[in-house]
Amino acid sequence: MKEIQRFTLADLTLPMKTLFSGYLLVIGLGLLFAGGQIMLTHGLADGKVGLSVDDIIYSYHGKRDEGSKLIAKLNGSMKDNAPPDVRLAMIKWAEAGGPAEEWDEKISMDVDQYCAPCHANIPGLANLTDRAVMDEMLKVDEGQSPSTLTRVSHIHLFGIAFIFFFVGWIFTYATGISQLNKAILISVPFLFLIVDVLSWWLTKWNPNFAWLVIIGGFGYGMSATVMIFTSLYQMWILPRRKARPIDPPIQ
Ligand code: HEC
Repeated sequence: MKEIQRFTLADLTLPMKTLFSGYLLVIGLGLLFAGGQIMLTHGLADGKVGLSVDDIIYSYHGKRDEGSKLIAKLNGSMKDNAPPDVRLAMIKWAEAGGPAEEWDEKISMDVDQYCAPCHANIPGLANLTDRAVMDEMLKVDEGQSPSTLTRVSHIHLFGIAFIFFFVGWIFTYATGISQLNKAILISVPFLFLIVDVLSWWLTKWNPNFAWLVIIGGFGYGMSATVMIFTSLYQMWILPRRKARPIDPPIQ
C-alpha cells in the first residue's frame, strides 16, 4: 500500500509554519507549567517535596488508614493525657463516628476531666469541649470527593483532547516516520488520557492504583514531547539541512 503525502512540515508556507510553531510552543510551555503545578499541589501532599506514590494516595484516596485526627492524636502525642480505659473508650467512640448519646452520657465528661484543662483553657488549642470543634477532629480524610473528581475529570478529558487533537494533526504532516508509527504516537496521548482519569477513580477506591496515575501522566507528557520536537525540527531545521549543498571535503 503506497500512500502519498501531499503536505510535509518541511515545505509548508511560512505563515503555516508560524501558526503551527506558535501553537506548539505555547502548548509545550503549558505542559511544563502543568507538570510544575502537579509538583506543587499533589507533590507536597505527603509533606515532602517531589511527586511520590504517597502524594497520589493522599490526594485521591485520603488518609483513611490513619483514621480521624482524634484517633491519630490519642495514639500519638496525646496518648498519656488519659488513662488507658478512657483513651480506649474515646477511640471506640471516634471509630463509631462520634454518636451523640454516648457523647452526652460519657465522652463529654471524660473530655471535661482529662482534656479540658488544656483544650478549653489554653488559647490557641482546639476547644474539644465544643462539639462542633470535636466534630472537626472526628473527620476522616477521604481524599478528593466524587463531585470534585467528576468536575476535574470532564474538564481534563475535554481540554486535553483538544490539545492533542491539534498536536497530533500537525504531527501527521511529519515525514520519515512510517504511517503505523505515526498512528501509534498519535494514539498514545489519547489512550493515556483515559488511563490517567480512570486511575484517579481507581486510586480513590484502592490506593494500589496510584502508580497508574504517575504512568498515565508521564505517558502523554513523553508522547507530546516527541511530537512537538519532531514537528518543530521538521519545520525549521530539516529544510535547511536539505537545502545545504554537499559538505565541502575536509582539508
Ligand atoms: C497537658 C495539656 C494537654 C492535655 C491534658 C491534652 N492535650 Fe491535646 N493537645 C495539647 C497540645 C499542646 C496540642 C498541640 C500539639 C500536638 O498536636 O501534639 C494538642 C493537640 C491535640 C489535638 C490536635 C488538635 C488540632 O487542632 O490539630 C487533639 C485532637 C488533641 N490534642 C486531643 C486531646 C484529647 C482527646 C485529650 C484528652 C484525652 C487531650 N488532647 C489532652 C495539649 C494537651
